[in-house]
Amino acid sequence: MRIVIGCDHGGYVLKKKIIAYLEENNITFEDVGSYSEESVDYPEYARKVAKKVTSGKFDRGILLCGTGIGISIAANKVKGARCALVHDVESASLTRQHNDSNILAMGGRIVDHNLALEIVKIWLSTDFEGGRHLRRVNSIEEV
Ligand code: RB5
Repeated sequence: MRIVIGCDHGGYVLKKKIIAYLEENNITFEDVGSYSEESVDYPEYARKVAKKVTSGKFDRGILLCGTGIGISIAANKVKGARCALVHDVESASLTRQHNDSNILAMGGRIVDHNLALEIVKIWLSTDFEGGRHLRRVNSIEEV
């Protein structure tokens, strides 16, 4: 699985922890920035990640900002992006099963960082259920 990951300054510390997890588990990824805690604008990184996922170059994306809110709103403006803002493991599993989310957003200033790694693990390993959920996802794509 190919992952693209991005953040703003508020998500930078958590991004580094997630990257360490991806490296330890030999998961292929590209980091599109930002690369420090210097203030930047999250929509730029949301767009970079969402475009790389929706173009098919990458299978999934991960986005981090302070709350996860702004960066998820921005990612969902890109057609084909289904970015889920998640702060618990049950939602991580359900958003894969029901929404086929292709981007995971979290808030680096909100979620405990060990919990965030659990969320990543569950989100990456859970499959879409299809069936009635596919009809609903297709309906989203028509918008
Ligand atoms: C940046 O200060 C902060 O607004 C951003 O990281 C994010 O929380 C926005 O939703």
